[in-house]
Amino acid sequence: MKDIMIATSNPNKVREYREMLEPMGYAVHDLSEIEHEDPEENGKTFAENALIKARAVYHHTGMTAIADDSGLSIDHLKGQPGIHSARYLAGHDYTYKNKMLIRRLRNATDRSARFTCAIALIDQKGEHVFEGVMEGSISREIRGDHGFGYDPIFLPEGMNRTSAELLPEEKNAISHRGQATRKLLAYLQEEGK
Ligand code: IMP
Repeated sequence: MKDIMIATSNPNKVREYREMLEPMGYAVHDLSEIEHEDPEENGKTFAENALIKARAVYHHTGMTAIADDSGLSIDHLKGQPGIHSARYLAGHDYTYKNKMLIRRLRNATDRSARFTCAIALIDQKGEHVFEGVMEGSISREIRGDHGFGYDPIFLPEGMNRTSAELLPEEKNAISHRGQATRKLLAYLQEEGK
């Protein structure tokens, strides 16, 4: 069995990676198994931050390492919350954060936005980044209760439902995370041959 370390202690992320990677013959590990210090995420892009997290774990354990970073970038707000998506308006819940974003866009003519997900993988061959982008726009109201985070205010391009109104499999088929994950799996499948 090949070992792979996921650079997160978020149990939901660990479970999702486990479900994808175990059937491919990987023994999936996560940060809860080792003593570690989180590196400072001081990159300027999603890809840089994912690489910073993956490098820290790769150097610490020597195991193939995976880390991801994702977020919502809104053009009218010059790309905010962007790489700060998880920390934006820290201490408030997403109902509040989503209300605030809609309010900040009340006079916007351009409501375009996108979700980005970068997955960094470091193995003996080197560093790889798999990226997915879901284009769309910010809705005028909060709608839907699937998904999480900013899903209730995000209208994927060409849809009149927010991504929180999509079923999980519908979102996964088009989402930034779905796309990045499929690229990662294609790479690992090729490696496993
Ligand atoms: P991280 O990738 O764990 O650093 O967190 C990214 C943050 O971006 C999340 O906490 C959410 O606020 C936001 N985000 C990323 N992907 C999604 C998504 O698919 N739906 C809604 N919010 C998301």
